[in-house]
Amino acid sequence: MHDLKKKPIGVFDSGYGGLTVLKEIVKQLPEYDYIYLGDNARAPYGTRSFETVYQYTLESVQQLFSMGCELVILACNTASAKALRTIQQKDLPLIAPDRRVLGVIRPTTEIVGNYTKTGHVGVLGTSGTIASDSYPIEIAKFYPQLKVVQEACPMWVPLVENNEFENEGADFFIQKNINSLLSKDKNIDTIILGCTHYPLLINKIKKYLPPNITLLSQGEIVAESLIDYLKRHVEIEQKSTKGGSVEFYTTDSPENFDKAALNFFGKAVKSKHVSF
Ligand code: DGL
Repeated sequence: MHDLKKKPIGVFDSGYGGLTVLKEIVKQLPEYDYIYLGDNARAPYGTRSFETVYQYTLESVQQLFSMGCELVILACNTASAKALRTIQQKDLPLIAPDRRVLGVIRPTTEIVGNYTKTGHVGVLGTSGTIASDSYPIEIAKFYPQLKVVQEACPMWVPLVENNEFENEGADFFIQKNINSLLSKDKNIDTIILGCTHYPLLINKIKKYLPPNITLLSQGEIVAESLIDYLKRHVEIEQKSTKGGSVEFYTTDSPENFDKAALNFFGKAVKSKHVSF
Protein backbone atom coordinates (compact mmCIF):
# COMPACT_ATOMS: atom_id res chain seq x y z
CA MET A 1 0.00 0.00 0.00
CA HIS A 2 1.02 3.55 -0.56
CA ASP A 3 3.10 5.17 2.23
CA LEU A 4 0.93 7.93 3.69
CA LYS A 5 3.87 9.72 5.29
CA LYS A 6 4.82 10.80 1.79
CA LYS A 7 3.39 13.98 0.28
CA PRO A 8 4.02 13.33 -3.40
CA ILE A 9 3.23 15.64 -6.28
CA GLY A 10 0.30 14.05 -8.14
CA VAL A 11 0.30 13.92 -11.93
CA PHE A 12 -2.95 12.92 -13.58
CA ASP A 13 -4.02 12.01 -17.10
CA SER A 14 -6.91 10.14 -18.67
CA GLY A 15 -4.39 7.53 -19.79
CA TYR A 16 -0.76 7.49 -20.82
CA GLY A 17 -0.27 10.97 -22.30
CA GLY A 18 0.59 12.64 -19.00
CA LEU A 19 3.65 10.40 -18.78
CA THR A 20 5.29 12.63 -21.42
CA VAL A 21 4.87 15.50 -18.96
CA LEU A 22 5.91 13.50 -15.89
CA LYS A 23 9.07 12.42 -17.71
CA GLU A 24 10.20 16.06 -18.10
CA ILE A 25 9.12 17.01 -14.58
CA VAL A 26 11.14 14.17 -13.05
CA LYS A 27 14.10 15.09 -15.24
CA GLN A 28 14.06 18.69 -14.04
CA LEU A 29 12.92 18.11 -10.43
CA PRO A 30 14.17 14.62 -9.50
CA GLU A 31 14.24 15.27 -5.75
CA TYR A 32 10.47 15.20 -5.12
CA ASP A 33 8.17 12.20 -4.65
CA TYR A 34 5.59 11.68 -7.41
CA ILE A 35 2.43 9.66 -7.98
CA TYR A 36 1.11 9.24 -11.50
CA LEU A 37 -2.51 8.27 -11.96
CA GLY A 38 -3.84 7.18 -15.37
CA ASP A 39 -7.60 6.72 -15.61
CA ASN A 40 -7.09 4.19 -18.40
CA ALA A 41 -10.34 2.36 -17.66
CA ARG A 42 -12.30 5.44 -18.75
CA ALA A 43 -9.95 6.88 -21.39
CA PRO A 44 -10.10 8.56 -23.81
CA TYR A 45 -11.67 11.70 -22.38
CA GLY A 46 -11.30 13.74 -25.58
CA THR A 47 -14.72 12.98 -27.01
CA ARG A 48 -16.67 13.01 -23.73
CA SER A 49 -19.03 15.70 -22.48
CA PHE A 50 -18.04 18.52 -20.17
CA GLU A 51 -19.95 16.97 -17.26
CA THR A 52 -18.35 13.53 -17.70
CA VAL A 53 -14.80 14.85 -17.97
CA TYR A 54 -15.38 17.06 -14.93
CA GLN A 55 -16.78 14.16 -12.88
CA TYR A 56 -13.99 11.73 -13.82
CA THR A 57 -11.30 14.33 -13.22
CA LEU A 58 -12.69 15.33 -9.82
CA GLU A 59 -12.80 11.70 -8.71
CA SER A 60 -9.21 11.21 -9.83
CA VAL A 61 -8.04 14.36 -8.03
CA GLN A 62 -9.77 13.18 -4.84
CA GLN A 63 -8.04 9.83 -5.18
CA LEU A 64 -4.66 11.58 -5.43
CA PHE A 65 -5.53 13.73 -2.40
CA SER A 66 -6.35 10.57 -0.44
CA MET A 67 -2.87 9.30 -1.33
CA GLY A 68 -1.29 12.35 0.30
CA CYS A 69 -0.84 14.73 -2.64
CA GLU A 70 -0.95 18.41 -1.70
CA LEU A 71 -0.43 19.45 -5.31
CA VAL A 72 -1.96 17.77 -8.35
CA ILE A 73 -1.11 18.56 -11.95
CA LEU A 74 -3.70 17.74 -14.57
CA ALA A 75 -1.25 16.62 -17.26
CA CYS A 76 -4.17 16.35 -19.67
CA ASN A 77 -5.39 19.19 -21.84
CA THR A 78 -8.92 17.83 -22.02
CA ALA A 79 -9.22 17.73 -18.22
CA SER A 80 -7.48 21.11 -17.92
CA ALA A 81 -9.92 22.59 -20.46
CA LYS A 82 -13.10 21.09 -19.09
CA ALA A 83 -12.61 20.49 -15.38
CA LEU A 84 -9.81 22.61 -13.93
CA ARG A 85 -11.63 25.88 -13.43
CA THR A 86 -14.64 24.28 -11.71
CA ILE A 87 -12.39 22.20 -9.46
CA GLN A 88 -10.29 25.23 -8.52
CA GLN A 89 -13.18 27.59 -7.95
CA LYS A 90 -16.01 25.38 -6.71
CA ASP A 91 -14.62 22.13 -5.30
CA LEU A 92 -11.27 22.95 -3.71
CA PRO A 93 -12.62 25.58 -1.29
CA LEU A 94 -15.03 22.91 0.02
CA ILE A 95 -13.01 19.70 -0.07
CA ALA A 96 -9.38 20.79 0.32
CA PRO A 97 -8.84 24.53 0.70
CA ASP A 98 -5.08 24.17 1.30
CA ARG A 99 -4.37 21.86 -1.63
CA ARG A 100 -3.74 22.94 -5.19
CA VAL A 101 -4.63 21.67 -8.66
CA LEU A 102 -2.85 23.03 -11.73
CA GLY A 103 -3.31 22.40 -15.45
CA VAL A 104 -1.19 22.38 -18.59
CA ILE A 105 -2.96 24.98 -20.72
CA ARG A 106 -1.96 28.11 -18.85
CA PRO A 107 1.81 27.42 -18.80
CA THR A 108 1.68 26.87 -22.55
CA THR A 109 -0.39 29.94 -23.37
CA GLU A 110 1.83 32.11 -21.15
CA ILE A 111 4.91 31.55 -23.29
CA VAL A 112 3.58 31.08 -26.84
CA GLY A 113 4.13 34.75 -27.65
CA ASN A 114 7.88 34.27 -27.17
CA TYR A 115 7.98 31.92 -30.13
CA THR A 116 5.82 33.37 -32.89
CA LYS A 117 7.21 36.05 -35.16
CA THR A 118 4.26 36.27 -37.54
CA GLY A 119 1.74 36.44 -34.68
CA HIS A 120 -0.16 33.49 -36.16
CA VAL A 121 -0.46 30.40 -33.96
CA GLY A 122 -2.04 26.98 -34.60
CA VAL A 123 -3.40 24.64 -31.93
CA LEU A 124 -3.86 20.88 -32.33
CA GLY A 125 -5.90 19.03 -29.70
CA THR A 126 -8.69 16.61 -28.92
CA SER A 127 -12.25 17.47 -29.94
CA GLY A 128 -13.01 18.40 -26.33
CA THR A 129 -10.06 20.74 -25.93
CA ILE A 130 -10.70 22.47 -29.25
CA ALA A 131 -14.46 22.82 -28.70
CA SER A 132 -13.85 24.40 -25.29
CA ASP A 133 -11.92 27.26 -26.97
CA SER A 134 -9.63 27.25 -23.92
CA TYR A 135 -6.51 27.96 -25.98
CA PRO A 136 -7.79 31.02 -27.88
CA ILE A 137 -9.38 32.38 -24.69
CA GLU A 138 -6.26 31.91 -22.56
CA ILE A 139 -3.85 33.12 -25.26
CA ALA A 140 -5.92 36.29 -25.68
CA LYS A 141 -5.36 37.09 -21.99
CA PHE A 142 -1.58 37.16 -22.41
CA TYR A 143 -1.25 38.12 -26.09
CA PRO A 144 -4.43 39.77 -27.38
CA GLN A 145 -2.76 40.58 -30.70
CA LEU A 146 -2.13 36.94 -31.69
CA LYS A 147 -4.28 35.18 -34.27
CA VAL A 148 -5.12 31.62 -33.21
CA VAL A 149 -6.58 28.86 -35.39
CA GLN A 150 -7.37 25.37 -34.16
CA GLU A 151 -7.85 21.86 -35.44
CA ALA A 152 -9.44 18.94 -33.62
CA CYS A 153 -7.65 15.64 -34.26
CA PRO A 154 -10.04 13.00 -32.89
CA MET A 155 -8.10 10.06 -34.35
CA TRP A 156 -4.69 10.91 -32.95
CA VAL A 157 -5.18 9.74 -29.34
CA PRO A 158 -6.70 6.39 -30.43
CA LEU A 159 -3.73 5.89 -32.80
CA VAL A 160 -1.34 6.41 -29.91
CA GLU A 161 -3.35 4.44 -27.34
CA ASN A 162 -3.61 1.51 -29.76
CA ASN A 163 0.11 1.54 -30.50
CA GLU A 164 -0.50 2.38 -34.17
CA PHE A 165 1.38 5.68 -34.06
CA GLU A 166 4.40 4.49 -36.04
CA ASN A 167 2.40 2.72 -38.72
CA GLU A 168 1.33 4.01 -42.14
CA GLY A 169 -2.29 4.39 -41.12
CA ALA A 170 -1.24 7.17 -38.76
CA ASP A 171 0.22 9.17 -41.67
CA PHE A 172 -3.18 9.52 -43.28
CA PHE A 173 -4.81 11.20 -40.30
CA ILE A 174 -1.79 13.28 -39.37
CA GLN A 175 -1.41 14.68 -42.87
CA LYS A 176 -5.15 15.33 -43.11
CA ASN A 177 -5.33 17.35 -39.88
CA ILE A 178 -2.07 19.23 -40.48
CA ASN A 179 -3.18 20.24 -43.98
CA SER A 180 -6.52 21.32 -42.66
CA LEU A 181 -4.93 23.45 -39.92
CA LEU A 182 -2.48 25.09 -42.33
CA SER A 183 -5.23 25.80 -44.87
CA LYS A 184 -7.02 27.90 -42.23
CA ASP A 185 -4.10 30.33 -41.97
CA LYS A 186 -1.05 30.44 -44.27
CA ASN A 187 0.97 32.57 -41.83
CA ILE A 188 1.15 30.14 -38.93
CA ASP A 189 4.73 29.87 -37.69
CA THR A 190 4.11 28.22 -34.28
CA ILE A 191 1.97 25.20 -33.46
CA ILE A 192 1.00 24.08 -29.96
CA LEU A 193 0.66 20.34 -29.47
CA GLY A 194 -2.31 20.76 -27.16
CA CYS A 195 -2.57 17.13 -26.10
CA THR A 196 -0.09 15.26 -23.97
CA HIS A 197 -0.32 12.21 -26.24
CA TYR A 198 0.97 14.05 -29.30
CA PRO A 199 4.72 14.07 -28.51
CA LEU A 200 4.70 10.42 -29.60
CA LEU A 201 3.58 11.53 -33.05
CA ILE A 202 6.19 14.26 -33.36
CA ASN A 203 8.27 12.63 -36.10
CA LYS A 204 5.24 12.09 -38.31
CA ILE A 205 3.90 15.58 -37.55
CA LYS A 206 7.23 17.12 -38.57
CA LYS A 207 7.14 15.14 -41.81
CA TYR A 208 4.03 17.06 -42.92
CA LEU A 209 5.00 20.49 -41.64
CA PRO A 210 7.07 23.13 -43.43
CA PRO A 211 10.45 23.35 -41.65
CA ASN A 212 9.99 26.99 -40.60
CA ILE A 213 7.18 26.08 -38.20
CA THR A 214 8.05 25.78 -34.50
CA LEU A 215 6.32 22.95 -32.63
CA LEU A 216 5.68 23.46 -28.93
CA SER A 217 5.16 20.31 -26.88
CA GLN A 218 4.25 20.63 -23.26
CA GLY A 219 6.60 18.45 -21.21
CA GLU A 220 9.40 20.96 -20.78
CA ILE A 221 7.07 23.95 -20.64
CA VAL A 222 5.07 22.44 -17.77
CA ALA A 223 8.22 21.32 -15.92
CA GLU A 224 9.68 24.82 -16.09
CA SER A 225 6.43 26.34 -14.97
CA LEU A 226 6.32 23.93 -12.01
CA ILE A 227 9.83 24.98 -10.94
CA ASP A 228 8.63 28.57 -10.96
CA TYR A 229 5.40 27.70 -9.13
CA LEU A 230 7.24 25.89 -6.32
CA LYS A 231 9.55 28.90 -5.88
CA ARG A 232 6.57 31.21 -5.55
CA HIS A 233 4.48 28.88 -3.32
CA VAL A 234 6.74 27.98 -0.44
CA GLU A 235 3.83 26.56 1.58
CA ILE A 236 3.25 23.86 -1.07
CA GLU A 237 6.94 23.32 -1.74
CA GLN A 238 7.67 22.71 1.95
CA LYS A 239 4.89 20.17 2.30
CA SER A 240 6.04 18.14 -0.73
CA THR A 241 8.34 15.35 0.41
CA LYS A 242 11.67 14.77 -1.24
CA GLY A 243 12.40 11.07 -1.49
CA GLY A 244 12.94 10.88 -5.24
CA SER A 245 10.27 8.18 -5.69
CA VAL A 246 7.85 7.78 -8.61
CA GLU A 247 4.80 5.54 -8.20
CA PHE A 248 2.35 4.65 -10.96
CA TYR A 249 -1.33 3.81 -10.60
CA THR A 250 -3.86 2.90 -13.25
CA THR A 251 -7.60 2.30 -13.09
CA ASP A 252 -7.20 -0.48 -15.68
CA SER A 253 -4.77 -3.39 -16.08
CA PRO A 254 -1.27 -2.76 -14.67
CA GLU A 255 0.20 -5.25 -17.18
CA ASN A 256 -1.15 -3.23 -20.11
CA PHE A 257 -0.12 0.02 -18.49
CA ASP A 258 3.46 -1.11 -17.95
CA LYS A 259 3.77 -2.26 -21.56
CA ALA A 260 2.45 0.97 -23.06
CA ALA A 261 4.07 3.28 -20.52
CA LEU A 262 7.52 2.50 -21.85
CA ASN A 263 6.81 4.47 -25.05
CA PHE A 264 5.59 7.51 -23.14
CA PHE A 265 7.90 7.55 -20.13
CA GLY A 266 11.01 6.29 -21.86
CA LYS A 267 11.80 3.66 -19.23
CA ALA A 268 10.20 0.63 -17.64
CA VAL A 269 7.57 1.26 -14.97
CA LYS A 270 5.77 -1.02 -12.52
CA SER A 271 2.24 0.19 -11.91
CA LYS A 272 -0.47 -0.84 -9.45
CA HIS A 273 -4.21 -1.00 -9.91
CA VAL A 274 -6.47 1.44 -8.14
CA SER A 275 -10.25 1.74 -8.23
CA PHE A 276 -12.48 4.42 -6.81
N1 DGL B 1 -3.87 13.33 -23.05
C1 DGL B 1 -5.11 14.02 -23.13
C2 DGL B 1 -4.92 15.48 -23.46
O1 DGL B 1 -3.87 16.02 -23.24
C3 DGL B 1 -6.13 13.47 -24.10
C4 DGL B 1 -6.40 12.04 -24.09
C5 DGL B 1 -7.86 11.69 -24.11
O2 DGL B 1 -8.58 11.98 -25.07
O3 DGL B 1 -8.24 11.11 -23.12
O4 DGL B 1 -5.84 16.11 -23.92
